[in-house]
Amino acid sequence: MKGFRDILPENIEKWQLLEETAKSIFKSFGYKEIRTPILEKTLTFERGVGDATDIVEKEMYTFLDKSGESVTLRPEGTAGIARAFIENKLETSVFNKLYYIGPMFRYERPQKGRFRQFHQIGAECFGIKNPAIDAEIIFINKLLFERLNIKANLEINNIGCPVCRPAYTKVLIDYFENYKDSLCTDCQKRLYKNPLRILDCKNEKCKIVVKGAPKLKDYVCKNCQEHYNSTKEYLKALNIEYIENDMLVRGLDYYTSFVFEFTNTITLSAGGRYDNLISDLGGGNICGVGFALGEERLIDMMDAKVQNNIDIYIANLSVTFYALQILQILKNFPYSVYCEYSSKSLKSMLKKADKLNTSVSIIIGENEQKSNTCIVRNMKSSNQQTIGVEQLENILKGVFYVT
Ligand code: HAM
Repeated sequence: MKGFRDILPENIEKWQLLEETAKSIFKSFGYKEIRTPILEKTLTFERGVGDATDIVEKEMYTFLDKSGESVTLRPEGTAGIARAFIENKLETSVFNKLYYIGPMFRYERPQKGRFRQFHQIGAECFGIKNPAIDAEIIFINKLLFERLNIKANLEINNIGCPVCRPAYTKVLIDYFENYKDSLCTDCQKRLYKNPLRILDCKNEKCKIVVKGAPKLKDYVCKNCQEHYNSTKEYLKALNIEYIENDMLVRGLDYYTSFVFEFTNTITLSAGGRYDNLISDLGGGNICGVGFALGEERLIDMMDAKVQNNIDIYIANLSVTFYALQILQILKNFPYSVYCEYSSKSLKSMLKKADKLNTSVSIIIGENEQKSNTCIVRNMKSSNQQTIGVEQLENILKGVFYVT
């Protein structure tokens, strides 16, 4: 299906490395995992992400369930987690630093790095007003990239809040009205609904008009400005370099004041503060900040060839009971073992052991079964020796621990 992909075993180690690295970093910062349903009421996204956004207007997989209720495959994680936070009264819990990993769905035009089912790793923190938490979120995001050896530039912006943004939106509309005919058809439609989005339109004609547009930073209120300035100070204290980008507006409506993106030719991750999301979804006056990265985009940039990590191949030459016995013995030790059950020739078994990148093959046939022995073959040197089964532990120790 267009925009949907299988993640195959030959690539799975990269995915696991990315997810394990993220999990260990989150854990080290005191973040707890949260798992929310993939299907949510459509209203959660209409209210949360905003009904004038591209995501809600054009990209959601929305349908009526058998009871006639409108439901949607989550296009992103934040709104659903905010919904879960409210419903489960998590404001009374100590766990307000959360992370998640999972699939998201957007009906977008598939292209390089853009899929209809894609995967995000994200974090959300609720109830912390201090701008240091915005810096912590970026610190975590950056650390993850560093651990994976991925280079990315951090761009930040202050996009104001419902107090200061309306005044700006008004001057922006006044400005763009003068150039309406020069805007692309999408931006002409956005003009009254979501004029901020015109600022990051990729159309060359729109870009020219945008150059002369009034700047949001000249209109933001004192609170937003103070928050933004303090976040920048905390970023400096953490030695995190950033570029301020006036045109960074983000495609989701819930953001207030501080927003950011990490880019390297394509946006790898993004996030920001959303102080009204919980109240917009019917909860209390609880602020939030978070980020999410696109796993497919990171996997594309991870150059590390992750090795298959199967240690031992049991070349079972039609002595399956004996093979199971050996498997049972080996399970007392920390090796990964692939046991063969299909009847192949020894040659093709050893070929397979090579492809699985194993260090050792244990070859067993009728003779070995009768004498309670096995042939241990070092797959690198091709040296092999027949040993008694009771010697297995010591011999394997020699292969795996002495290089
Ligand atoms: P977003 O910018 O829509 O933000 O998505 C975050 C990341 O998900 C993007 O930077 C990109 O790497 C990846 N991504 C988005 N769409 C696709 C796609 N169609 N195919 C592949 N990757 C994609 C959010 O989703 C917010 N919930 C982030 C956030 C969390 N803000 C606060 N907390």
